[in-house]
Amino acid sequence: MRKKIVAGNWKMNLDYNEGLGVFSEIINMVKDEVTGTQEAVICSPFIHLHSLVQLAKGYSKVSLGAQNAHQAESGAYTGEISAKMIKSIGAAYVILGHSERRQYFGETNELLAKKTDTALANDLRPIFCIGETLQEREANQYFNIIKSQLVEGVFHLDAAHFSKLVIAYEPVWAIGTGVTASSEQAQEIHAFIRKEIATKYSQEVADNTTILYGGSCNPKNAPELFAQPDIDGGLIGGASLKSRDFVDIVKVFN
Ligand code: G3P
Repeated sequence: MRKKIVAGNWKMNLDYNEGLGVFSEIINMVKDEVTGTQEAVICSPFIHLHSLVQLAKGYSKVSLGAQNAHQAESGAYTGEISAKMIKSIGAAYVILGHSERRQYFGETNELLAKKTDTALANDLRPIFCIGETLQEREANQYFNIIKSQLVEGVFHLDAAHFSKLVIAYEPVWAIGTGVTASSEQAQEIHAFIRKEIATKYSQEVADNTTILYGGSCNPKNAPELFAQPDIDGGLIGGASLKSRDFVDIVKVFN
């Protein structure tokens, strides 16, 4: 059966020392307080990642991820970081397709399909983000948008590669706004995503795919969201910057 995962996306927050401090608190709280089989993942800025991987050694419930990776294997791309580099320092995950990358850096489904291929070729697990904007929701286009993000971004993969992905549904209107999708709204989309995966691959692949919810998720609303049958955890922004809040969300699965 699919794994429950709570992943923190620190975005461009916390300087190096602050990051090490928050992460040390997280790994100790997870060790002492998390009793279930869920996995906690922190997706930190690149600068922090190697040190956090070292700190996490021996803490089996905590993994690390990056927030982006380049689509090329290597080469003359000044300022970029490759999937191979991320893998080589011991990180396991990479967030791809976050709406902030789509919006501010012009990342398209076509580019994200390439990034996904390169991440998988380097044995990283993509946390592939999809979700509609407020206008798209109000115009009732959200099922189409989500379907095209899946079809154009990841449905070119064969079943074996697709099975390595984690999907994160993040309605753009809920990110950093304090407005969470209701548990019914989120469940509706998660069930839709799982149905699309079943149609494309198989019911077995769909049942084994971890689908996270992201968007103003916090210790108060996480229990109701995570109780929905197709919500397998969360991708947490603001609340992952505070160790107590993040670990309380991880503990929803205890
Ligand atoms: O990737 C996580 C994210 O975009 C949600 O952010 O701050 O609304 O939890 P936040």
